[in-house]
Amino acid sequence: MDWEEIYRKGEVFWNKGAPSPPMKQYLERHPVRGRALVPGCGHGHEVVLAVAHGLDAIGLDIAPTGIAEARALYPQLAERFVTGDLFNPPEEMRGAFDIVLEHTCMSGLHPSLRADYRRGIDLTLRRGGLLVGVWFINPDLDPGDEGPPFPFSVPDLTALFADGYEIVEDYVPDATFDTRAGRERVRVLRRLG
Ligand SMILES: C[S@@+](CC[C@H](N)C(=O)[O-])C[C@H]1O[C@@H](n2cnc3c(N)ncnc32)[C@H](O)[C@@H]1O
Repeated sequence: MDWEEIYRKGEVFWNKGAPSPPMKQYLERHPVRGRALVPGCGHGHEVVLAVAHGLDAIGLDIAPTGIAEARALYPQLAERFVTGDLFNPPEEMRGAFDIVLEHTCMSGLHPSLRADYRRGIDLTLRRGGLLVGVWFINPDLDPGDEGPPFPFSVPDLTALFADGYEIVEDYVPDATFDTRAGRERVRVLRRLG
């Protein structure tokens, strides 16, 4: 995927223009503190949400235009949006985060890149830290659809973090964007020490 090209063309079909309702609900119910990373942050709505809930949050995205647009949308948080590759994160991000907030980064990646995603989480999240995920569950593509989002099931999620993480929370959220009802799963994983 050429993410930069997609942003340049303005074809950001996934962008809802507002923070994820399940992520919002999770943060309202769980007082969390510390440094947070939002990988593949796009326009940064979840970064804004995280900061509003007291987290010292950074959004990372591989597409410079996506980051420029996030900065333009949220100029007061501009320094929190960083261009970079989760698969090869900047040195200062390695082991630096207490929490990673996942929202439609993983489901945008071709399945062949899932091991790189997992490695990117391992490189940035400290041991004992939390991976708070609103995972987009999409086991089958519609006819003619090639993705993204790519096929991803709950067993795929379980397999991706089968070692080195424990599940601390797992549920189908009742707060969702209309078009995603029943297709999201909140699963929170703790990285083992
Ligand atoms: C489907 S979009 C989701 C954007 C945002 N999370 C949202 O919910 O609106 C996936 C995002 O992941 C970013 N991305 C893809 N590969 C990446 C990588 N290796 N490192 C950082 N960001 C990446 C893309 O540029 C894109 O912004």
